[in-house]
Amino acid sequence: MNTIKRMTRREALKNLGLLASGAFILGTSNVLTSCTNDNGKKRIVFYFTGSGNSLYVAKHLSAKPLSIPQVLQGDQLEFEADEIGLVFPDYQGKAPSIVQEFAQKVKLKADYMFSVITYGLDNCLVTELWEEYAKQYGWHFNYINVVLMQDVYLPMFNQDQQRTLYEQKDEEGQIARVVEDINTRREWIYEISPEAHQRGEMIMNMVSRNPIYPATSQASFTIDRDLCVGCGTCVNVCPKKCYSFGTRGIENNGDCTYCMACANNCPQKAIKLPREANANARYRHPKITLQEIVRANQQHG
Ligand SMILES: Cc1cc2nc3c(=O)[nH]c(=O)nc-3n(C[C@H](O)[C@H](O)[C@H](O)COP(=O)(O)O)c2cc1C
Ligand code: SF4
Ligand code: SF4
Repeated sequence: MNTIKRMTRREALKNLGLLASGAFILGTSNVLTSCTNDNGKKRIVFYFTGSGNSLYVAKHLSAKPLSIPQVLQGDQLEFEADEIGLVFPDYQGKAPSIVQEFAQKVKLKADYMFSVITYGLDNCLVTELWEEYAKQYGWHFNYINVVLMQDVYLPMFNQDQQRTLYEQKDEEGQIARVVEDINTRREWIYEISPEAHQRGEMIMNMVSRNPIYPATSQASFTIDRDLCVGCGTCVNVCPKKCYSFGTRGIENNGDCTYCMACANNCPQKAIKLPREANANARYRHPKITLQEIVRANQQHG
C-alpha cells in the first residue's frame, strides 16, 4: 500500500512559505488579538503595503499588525480597542484605493487613533487630505505623521539609485520618533507649511492631468512571456486578485490599486510598466520577506 500522502497545491505552497497562515485565510475573527502595550493599553494596528515599507513601520507599532486586504476579505468589520492605528503609503497625496475602501466599510472605536503614512519624496497634502477623508466615516485622528522611505513609484524612480539615499533618509530615527510619540499618546497632526501647501496643490493638479502619472484604473502592466517562469508569485502578492493563470499563461486584469507588489516581487523582473525609470531595478524593503508580503496581500486561499 502506498503510504505517501499526496500533497495538495495548498500544502505545497504552505511548505514553500507562500501561503498565508491559516489564521488569516480562515477569517480575521481568528486573529483579532489586539496587542497590549507597555502601558497596558490594547492596541490594534492595520496596515497596507506593496513593497514592505509600511509593514516595516507597522511592525514597530504592534507585534501583530493586521493586513487591510485580509480584513476586507473577512467577516469582521467592527473593531474596538484603547488605541487603533493605520499605516499605509502615500499615493499621489491620497490613501491607496484599498485603504479608502477600508475606511468606507470598517467601523473603528478607540480612545486614541493614529495614522502613519509612508512616502518617498514629497508628502504633498496627504496628511490633510487623509484627515478630511477619514472624518466622513467618523474617524477622528489624534495623531497623524509621515515617514520618508524608499520611493517605490517605478515610473519615476530608479530603485537602484533610490537605495543609495537610504542613509540620508534616517528611516530608523524617524520610526523611533513616531513610536515614541504614539506610545506617549502625543496629540499632533503633521503640519503642512504654507509653501508646502502651495506646492502640494500645484503637484496634485499636475498629477491629476498628466497621463505619465497613471491613476489606479489606468495602470497597465505587461508580462514579458519570455522571462516569466510561471512561479505564481504575482498571483500571491496581489491584494486585488488581478493575476490568474489563463490559457496563455499568467494574465493580468482587474481593479488594480497600483501598489507595485507584482512588479517589485516578480523574481524574473518579467512584469513591466509602459514607462519606467529602470525596468531592471526592483525593491522590497530589506527587512521584509516575500512571505510577509504574501501573508499581507494574498487573496487566494
Ligand atoms: C502609485 C504610487 C504613488 C506614489 N505617490 C507618491 C507621492 O505622491 N509622494 C511620495 O512622496 N511618494 C509617493 N509614492 C511612494 C510611496 O508612498 C512610498 O514608497 C511608500 O513608502 C511605499 O510603501 P509600501 O512599500 O508600504 O507600499 C508613491 C508610490 C506609488 C506606488
Ligand atoms: S511572478 Fe513573474 S515569473 Fe512568476 S508567474 Fe508572475 S510574471 Fe511570471
Ligand atoms: S496588479 Fe500589481 S500593482 Fe495592481 S494591485 Fe495587483 S499587485 Fe498591486
